[in-house]
Amino acid sequence: MHKDCERILFTQEEIHQMVCSLAKRINEDYKGKNLILIGLLKGSIMFMSDLMKEIELDCKIDFICASSYGSGSTSSGRVNIVKDVSQPLDGLDVLIVEDIIDSGNTLNFITKYFKAKNAESVKICTLLSKPDRRVVDIPVDYIGVEVPDEFVVGYGLDFDENYRNLPYIGILKPSVYS
Ligand code: PRP
Repeated sequence: MHKDCERILFTQEEIHQMVCSLAKRINEDYKGKNLILIGLLKGSIMFMSDLMKEIELDCKIDFICASSYGSGSTSSGRVNIVKDVSQPLDGLDVLIVEDIIDSGNTLNFITKYFKAKNAESVKICTLLSKPDRRVVDIPVDYIGVEVPDEFVVGYGLDFDENYRNLPYIGILKPSVYS
């Protein structure tokens, strides 16, 4: 375990199980649809990569990068598109792939943004959800697991752009960020 982590919250094996059970539901629900997985950079990279390997349907993939303005670890309602998707979404069934939903501000904005691009449907798949931090009540169709309001890193999740490469999800020691 990394020295800056207090403890491991989810091991690689536990994450793999969550990914597989989410993929199983997606494989059922999207039969006969025009699925496109859109990963929200950068936090979703590992989840996106593992999830798409378990998708047995024909699908497209794309990425979008959004930055939200806020102070410290709190995002605000203002979201800026840093990198947009690279294809039209008309008629496609969009599944947004996200590492964590916190306040919900980012996905509230992105969902509306994709609907405005004439997507046939827009749903959300997140590995982690922190319900205690929710500010905007957005419908989330696929949730790997709900987590307590602690600082989680690894498996794509960062603090100050570090720790994304850890293959597990750990809880950061408060001394690192306070
Ligand atoms: C994180 C995370 C979500 C967002 C969740 O991204 O990946 O996109 O914050 O917060 P919210 O629900 O309060 O909007 P971040 O902006 O840290 O960028 P990253 O994906 O590059 O880590």
